[in-house]
Amino acid sequence: MRKWTVLVLAAAFAAPATALAQFRQPVLSPDGRLAVELSLDKGEAAYRATFNGRPILDRSRLGFRFSNAAPLDSGFRVAASQSLDHDESWSQPWGERRQMRDKYHGLILTLAAPDGRQLGVELRVFDDGFGFRYTLPGKPDDQLIVRDEETEFHFAQNYRTWSIPAYREKYSEYEYSRSSLSALQTAQTPLTLEGDGVALAVHEAALVDYSSMNLRMPEENSRMLKADLSPWPNGDRARVHGGQKTPWRVVIVANDAARLADSTIVLNLNEPNRLGDVSWVHPGKYIGIFWAMHTGLLTWEPGERLGATTERTRHYIDWAAAHGIKGVLVEGWNKGWEVPQWWVNGHSRFIFDEAQPAFDMRAISAYARSKGIDLIGHHETGAQVQDYLRQLGPALAYYDRYDVRSIKLGYVGTKLDSIYWPDSQYAVENLQKVVEAAARHHISVFPHEPVKDTGLRRTWPNLLSREGARGQEYNGGSPDTGNAPDHTTILPFTRLLSGPLDYTPGVFHFDYRATRPNNRVPSTLANQLALYVILYSPVQMAVDLPERYDEYPDAFRFIQDVPTDWETSRTLQGRIGEYVMTARQDRSSADWYLGAITNEAARTLSVPLDFLAAGKRYEAQIYADGPGADWRTAPDSVAISRRIVTATDMLELRLAPGGGQAIRFKAL
Ligand code: NOJ
Ligand code: CA
Repeated sequence: MRKWTVLVLAAAFAAPATALAQFRQPVLSPDGRLAVELSLDKGEAAYRATFNGRPILDRSRLGFRFSNAAPLDSGFRVAASQSLDHDESWSQPWGERRQMRDKYHGLILTLAAPDGRQLGVELRVFDDGFGFRYTLPGKPDDQLIVRDEETEFHFAQNYRTWSIPAYREKYSEYEYSRSSLSALQTAQTPLTLEGDGVALAVHEAALVDYSSMNLRMPEENSRMLKADLSPWPNGDRARVHGGQKTPWRVVIVANDAARLADSTIVLNLNEPNRLGDVSWVHPGKYIGIFWAMHTGLLTWEPGERLGATTERTRHYIDWAAAHGIKGVLVEGWNKGWEVPQWWVNGHSRFIFDEAQPAFDMRAISAYARSKGIDLIGHHETGAQVQDYLRQLGPALAYYDRYDVRSIKLGYVGTKLDSIYWPDSQYAVENLQKVVEAAARHHISVFPHEPVKDTGLRRTWPNLLSREGARGQEYNGGSPDTGNAPDHTTILPFTRLLSGPLDYTPGVFHFDYRATRPNNRVPSTLANQLALYVILYSPVQMAVDLPERYDEYPDAFRFIQDVPTDWETSRTLQGRIGEYVMTARQDRSSADWYLGAITNEAARTLSVPLDFLAAGKRYEAQIYADGPGADWRTAPDSVAISRRIVTATDMLELRLAPGGGQAIRFKAL
C-alpha cells in the first residue's frame, strides 16, 4: 500500500462556551465539482449539495430521536470542527479492480445539545459522491434505543428513480420499477436517480451493529426521502451504545449512469481488511447440482429424482475437471430437505453436519480432492437463524474436515425466525457472526436472501458475493414467468452498486415450458455469455446442465476463458433499462474482456477499443448474436468469429432483441 498524504487540519474552537450557534462550511470534492455544505441554523443541523454548480440536494436535516433519551435534532451548537484532506491508495486482494484510490476532503463536526450531549457528524466528499456518519453520544456502556434516525435526502429535482420497495414478502427479489421520485413510498437502497444531467444513488456503507437504512417518503408526492431503519419487532429502529459510529449514509454522484456504476466510494468508506493474509480466499467459477432442481427435472428432497447423489456429484466433478471449472456446488446433500414446505417460516429442520443417505460426503470429498476440484458447500437455513447458529460450530468443523472452503448460504423466508425482517439489525448482527466464524476456519461465504451488501468485503474478504436480487433462478422456476428482458440492463446501475451479485448466469437452454409452464429465459445465448463480464461477482456459476454445455462446446469456451478476478473494470456505455457495455482486464494476464447486452430492443453499439494497451495486438474472439437471433424465437443462435484488433480500432456490436455480445481480447 502506498500512501501519498494523509493530512488532518484541526481547526479553531472546542470550548462549549464559545460554541457557535450558526455555522456553514462547504466541503469540495478533490476535483471541485461536488460541493457539500454542512450547516447549523437556528439549532438545526443540515446538509445540502451541488454538482457541477447545480443543486442536487436541498437543505436536508440530520438528527435522532431515541426511546430512552431526549432527542438530538435541535438546539445544537457547534462545539468543534475539524477539516480533513486525505489521499491514500490501497489494493483489493480480489475484486473488480486491484488499485483503489481513497481521496477525499472532509469535515468532522461536534454538535453540542443544550443538555451537553454531543453528536458527531463526519463528512467525506469524494469525486464520485459523499458519505457521512454519526458518532452517538455517551459511553460504551450506555444503551441507546433509536426511535427514529431523522436523516433526510431532500432532492433538488423530481428525478427519475429505479427502485425496489422495502418491507415486502420477497424482500430484495423484485424487478426494479422506474418512476418519478415523487411517486415513491418506500425504497430499499441502493436507490438510483437520474435526470438534469446527473446520475445519483443513495446507499450506505459499512453496515454493522445497526439496522439497514431503507427510505420512506413521509409526505406524499414530495421530493424528500427520509432514512427508515428496518425495525425490530417491537418497533425499535436500532439498539446502539454510546460512542458508536453509525454506518455511512452515502450519495453516489456521477455525470451519467455508466460513471455511477464504476464508483468506488462504498468500498472506500469501509474499514481495511481485518483478516490479514487472505490467500485462502479464492474467487472462481463453479457448476452445480442446482439448475435441474429449479427447472423441475430433479428435486432437492429425497426420492426418485433426488439431485444430490454420490454418483451425480462424481459426474459433475469429472465434468468440471475436464472443462477447467474449479468449483462444484451441491444443493440437497444434507438432511432436512424432506421436511414438507421447509420454506414456510418455522418449518425447516435442516441439519448441517449430516449427509442424506444417497450422498457420501467422505467419498465425494476425497474424489474432489483427487481431481483438483473445490467442493462448494450449501447451508440453506430456511431463515431459522437461531437454529443455524446453534449448529454453526459443528457445521463449519464438518466442512473444514471435508475441505469445503466456501459455502453458499440461504435464508429463504419472509422473516428470520418468523419475526425479524431480513434487513433488520438482527439479520445484520447474525450474518456477521457467520462471516467471522467462517473466517476462523478459513472458509468463505456467499449468502442468498442476504442482508444487502454495503462493502463489507473490504473488511472481511471471505464475504465473497451475495444474491439479494431477483436472480436467474426466477427464469427457471418462478410461476410468475421470470424476469423481463430488461432486468439485467438495470441491475448494473442499481443492485450492483452495492457489491458483487451471484446471479448465476450461463443458461444455454431457454425454454422450460415442459416442466415449468410459465418459464423461458428472456435472453439470447450471447447475452448470457456477456453477463459474466457485466454482472460482477468473484464467484460465478455456469448455471446450466453439463449436457447442455456439451451441445455448444464452442460457445462454452467463453465461460471457460472468462476470469472472475479483475485488474480493472470500466463501464463503457449504458442507459438504465436499455443497454450496458462493460470492459474488464484480467488480473492474471494482459487479456481484456467485453460484455454488452440490450433489453428487448435490437440495437447496434459502436465501441472504440481505446481501453486496450496502445501498440499491442489482440485477437478478438467474438461471441455475437447469430442469424435470426431473438430471445423469443431463436435464443441459441450464436456466431463466433475472430479478428486481429488494436487500440485504434472500432467495433460495431449488433445486438438482437434480448441479445448481447461477449468478446475476449487475447493479448498476442
Ligand atoms: C433460494 C436460493 O436463491 C437458490 O439459489 C437456492 O437454490 C434455493 N433457495 C434453495 O436453497
Ligand atoms: Ca433467492
